[in-house]
Amino acid sequence: MSDVVFCTEPIMTKPLAIACDHAALDLKRALVSELEKRGIAVRDFGTNSSDSCDYPDFAHAVGRAIDSGEVERAILVCGTGVGMSIAANRHAAVRAVVCSEPLSARMSRQHNDSNVLCIGARIVGAGTAIDIVDAFLGAAFEGGRHAARVAKINLV
Ligand code: RB5
Repeated sequence: MSDVVFCTEPIMTKPLAIACDHAALDLKRALVSELEKRGIAVRDFGTNSSDSCDYPDFAHAVGRAIDSGEVERAILVCGTGVGMSIAANRHAAVRAVVCSEPLSARMSRQHNDSNVLCIGARIVGAGTAIDIVDAFLGAAFEGGRHAARVAKINLV
């Protein structure tokens, strides 16, 4: 039996948010270029400077946009992806994951309904990062038993 999972979700109707800190500016630019080639609308939340800055400022700007429904999905890049994910996950509607390979990105969509993908520019090269983004954007949440588990994630 095939394990292919067909996407049952509508194609994204809102722009994909993206943000980085100084450590990942080059990677963000490479990802934006690839996303635009794929016809994906991107909303850039900064930074657009190589000056040293604080990743939580950008993670929270994107987290607020997810919480408000302004955007549905986001990509956050910093040196490791870790700081961005910790900060973004403080937002109630965010389920952020740090991925260094495509399988985790795909599974995080299928089983965990992840909506924010974090990648470390000091951990993976641009080619692998693009493969991770493609896996994240190409997979759909499977629902079913996973929906009940995802519903238990947020503290009440
Ligand atoms: C910046 O030096 C670095 O700490 C940041 O990009 C990130 O890796 C934090 O998690």
